[in-house]
Amino acid sequence: MSEFKKNKKEAGREKMEFERVGRQDLVAAQSAEDADGIIEISLRPSKINEFIGQENLKENLSIALQAAKKRKEPLEHVLLSGPPGLGKTTLAHIMAHEMGAKITATSGPAIERAGDLVGILTNLQEGDILFIDEIHRLSKVVEEFVYPAMEDYKIDFTVDKGPYAKTIKFPLKHFTLIGATTRQGLLSSPLRDRFGVSFHLDFYEPEDLMKIIERSAKLLSISLSEEAALVLARSSRGTPRIANKLLRRVRDYAQVKSHATIDTVVIHKALEGQGIDKTGLDTLDRKVLSAIIEIYDGGPVGVDSLAATLNEEVDTVVDVVEPFLLKNGYLKRTSRGREATEKAYAHIKNTLPARSKPDLFSPKK
Ligand SMILES: Nc1ncnc2c1ncn2[C@@H]1O[C@H](COP(=O)(O)OP(=O)(O)OP(=O)(O)O)[C@@H](O)[C@H]1O
Ligand SMILES: [Mg+2]
Repeated sequence: MSEFKKNKKEAGREKMEFERVGRQDLVAAQSAEDADGIIEISLRPSKINEFIGQENLKENLSIALQAAKKRKEPLEHVLLSGPPGLGKTTLAHIMAHEMGAKITATSGPAIERAGDLVGILTNLQEGDILFIDEIHRLSKVVEEFVYPAMEDYKIDFTVDKGPYAKTIKFPLKHFTLIGATTRQGLLSSPLRDRFGVSFHLDFYEPEDLMKIIERSAKLLSISLSEEAALVLARSSRGTPRIANKLLRRVRDYAQVKSHATIDTVVIHKALEGQGIDKTGLDTLDRKVLSAIIEIYDGGPVGVDSLAATLNEEVDTVVDVVEPFLLKNGYLKRTSRGREATEKAYAHIKNTLPARSKPDLFSPKK
């Protein structure tokens, strides 16, 4: 075999080996994520009375469910909005369970062409639920097909172009559309108006998160003190998904370090390892606040510049980071951009910039 061919064969073998190992790593990473995903699904409440907190929403939802059941009619179209991890998907499945309805789940970006939507809609039976996650990311073309489907339970679908174009009418069964979005503001008003009911989920209070943590601990056979549950609840950014995730990480920590019971010391150690401070802010939260304070002199700064500075997606800053910082008074949103508040300065342990120092701080004459 020539030297060239041998080298080529060798290189090919190395490439194959690299791909095999690379893929194995990928599979391992995927299965760790899958394991977390499976646990997340197993912790998901399936009945409305297992859903903790959001009392106002639950009461209104119960009324809507009972009324629909009494009338023996499908539920009206429902829009669920709120930051990630607060229970939108969970609620969609609860509604299906309570109505005894079949649920088909998809998401805005997954429906690429109008034909995909037609396929999904024509397969729905009377009373079935179609759950569209990230509904604000539906393309404009697909959205046009959603309107008549929601309103008149029909779709007109045009096949072919030019002189051969034909319109086929598809009558649909009376279904319920449940849309979920982290950004209600991005929804077009014709779409928003077609939902009969709209629920907004807000961050949870520590007391409710504590109940969620205690419920999950029971399901996962983890023993933790009430005090420990409260510390964990306060560190969960008002978000059940984070509460459950932290609980699993704390359990890992306790197992590896051979702690039989989970107390506040174990929790603080485990949280430190995750980069979460005592107020529940994580590394990314602090990076955002530090950037505004240190690079932009406290703001105002536009979200695009901020995301570019941090090398993060704009969506991550807007959907994941900002809502909690705004709600808890670390950030202010002004017409000129985001500004850090005094609370943010205090948290980042920085001094206030001279221009925004209130008179209070200068010596009185
Ligand atoms: N009120 C609640 N009571 C108990 N557990 C909850 C509650 N809300 C959410 N959870 C838990 O939090 C997890 C995340 O919730 P879910 O997936 O419904 O969030 P989401 O709002 O759909 O998030 P995303 O916007 O990222 O899709 C669920 O698996 C569930 O275990
Ligand atoms: Mg979801």
